[in-house]
Amino acid sequence: MSSEKSIMRRNVVYKESCLSGLEKMGDETVDLIFTDPPYYQYRAKNIKGLKNHKDVVTEFEFDEFKSEEDYLKFLEDVIAACYRISKPGASGYLWCGDDYVSYINRIVEKVGFQFRKVIHWHKTNPFPAIYTRKMFANSMEMMVHFSKGSPKTWNHKPVNEMHNFIESPICMGKERRAHKTQKPLKVCIPYIEISSNPGDLVLDPFMGSGTTAIASLMTGREFIGFEINDKYCDIIAKRFEEFLENSSTIFEGKYPEVIHSKVKADKSGK
Ligand SMILES: C[S@@+](CC[C@H](N)C(=O)[O-])C[C@H]1O[C@@H](n2cnc3c(N)ncnc32)[C@H](O)[C@@H]1O
Repeated sequence: MSSEKSIMRRNVVYKESCLSGLEKMGDETVDLIFTDPPYYQYRAKNIKGLKNHKDVVTEFEFDEFKSEEDYLKFLEDVIAACYRISKPGASGYLWCGDDYVSYINRIVEKVGFQFRKVIHWHKTNPFPAIYTRKMFANSMEMMVHFSKGSPKTWNHKPVNEMHNFIESPICMGKERRAHKTQKPLKVCIPYIEISSNPGDLVLDPFMGSGTTAIASLMTGREFIGFEINDKYCDIIAKRFEEFLENSSTIFEGKYPEVIHSKVKADKSGK
């Protein structure tokens, strides 16, 4: 698909692999990419002495790549599709594990984006380091910021809020859903506000529990997203229901929805 008009509707999460979904989106139609792809856990799973520690090496059912090459190729295909559908000047934010951050910097530049900065989220309540394991607690996650040329939208916040570092506990309480890698709204909303304006279209190819969609709704942006897993699509639908119940905004027929696409994921499930 390369016409200017996308056939995907705004404010919808499609239950579909993003690889097939992104093909149906028009060139230069998206104002901001905000996403959190699966991390490649294989290496950690195979480190001697670590593999039985489920608290350290969580086995995500969506994270079954055959090899590191497959994983990086998958990310490159998705990021290249994101480049095609981004408007000139659009920003992108992509969460990743610390061991893949430099690969991702290279990939974003290879497909045409400019790498800008790595943002660090310090989790104030990580799983504690245990003496016998001789490892530091995993209290940091990273997000790569990139853009298609110079960023068109840059809503500067007070200087002390413009650090490439943010602190927040992991999701807890009412916000917490049954998704192992759910990101707190608090670490997503500031970047969406800086790099887009109300009414803009935010894309998340890997919606998970729907955090990007909820953050977009809360800040007056629109979204399109993909999520391959039925269970997580149900979580997103429930979050939309709760959001609408608690929101005073009038949506004028643009209600957020989860749609089970007729297009099947490719055989690898990726
Ligand atoms: C790291 S999680 C995203 C978590 C999300 N940021 C949140 O706050 O809930 C990655 C998600 O991508 C989904 N996923 C994996 N491969 C996919 C694909 N090819 N297309 C769409 N979604 C996919 C997984 O099911 C998983 O929910």
